[in-house]
Amino acid sequence: MKLSDKVAAITGAARGIGKACAKRFLDDGVKVVISDVDADGLTAAAAELGRPEALRTVVGNVAKRVDVDQLVATAVKEFGRLDIMVNNAGVARNRDILEITEEEFDEIIGINLKGAFFGVQAAAKQMIAQGGGGVIVNMSSVNALLAIPALATYAMSKGGMKQLTSVAAVALAPHNIRVVAVGPGTILTDMVASSIYTSEEARKTVMSRTPAGRGGEPSEVASVVAFLASDDASYITGQTIYPDGGRLILNYTVPVKDK
Ligand SMILES: NC(=O)c1ccc[n+]([C@@H]2O[C@H](COP(=O)([O-])OP(=O)(O)OC[C@H]3O[C@@H](n4cnc5c(N)ncnc54)[C@H](O)[C@@H]3O)[C@@H](O)[C@H]2O)c1
Repeated sequence: MKLSDKVAAITGAARGIGKACAKRFLDDGVKVVISDVDADGLTAAAAELGRPEALRTVVGNVAKRVDVDQLVATAVKEFGRLDIMVNNAGVARNRDILEITEEEFDEIIGINLKGAFFGVQAAAKQMIAQGGGGVIVNMSSVNALLAIPALATYAMSKGGMKQLTSVAAVALAPHNIRVVAVGPGTILTDMVASSIYTSEEARKTVMSRTPAGRGGEPSEVASVVAFLASDDASYITGQTIYPDGGRLILNYTVPVKDK
């Protein structure tokens, strides 16, 4: 297996895309530390994932640097090193742009963008300390490029993540560390249920702009993360790859009658 014996850390992995990445990595022979702010969810995810010899958990809030440092430290303490960091934790809040408070702005940017920045820093410091090499994957979104007016803070955070990925890729290339991002379209997780599919009309609107005609599965994002983390992607750095069912290339709408 291409990722056999690598060590990975994943934030926001109690459910959804992060948990799917953990499952995929475990299936590929990776030792994994999963982290989440939701302690109960993390315990349940660990029980579901199994593989106690290859899996550890750390409760943590990515908006706090000390918690992200603790995640990296746990990977080193438990498995001796860190090869792959997945900065996946993220939140979305629906809000009219004129109503967004300073606290809400700080919350979303603090988790989605600052948290990923802490993850890049903490992982890169460890990767350099162990001699260089490694891959950092940031979980972006099609909203790095597209504009949904009700998700302004979310779009701003993912737009910033695009540049975080580019800048870190250039800065860390001399250390043989690749920094990439994955920008999913609509993936069927709790986040989509609560902030995108808020009505049947909203779901149909999304489908009218999704040539694949369906939402994506978390495993379909995890497989892209696994590819990017492997040496098969050894010449890819600084880029965001979009598993989006054709969303970004569409300058049109598609019929949704039977979907
Ligand atoms: N689902 C989609 O359609 C979609 C599309 C594009 C991008 N994404 C991105 O993928 C990532 C995962 O999304 P998901 O759909 O699996 O969402 P989700 O809501 O199902 O899971 C997110 C996880 O992050 C955790 N989390 C939230 N705040 C945290 C914090 N401060 N510190 C640590 N953990 C925290 C949550 O507890 C949860 O377990 C996010 O970055 C999201 O923006 C999702």
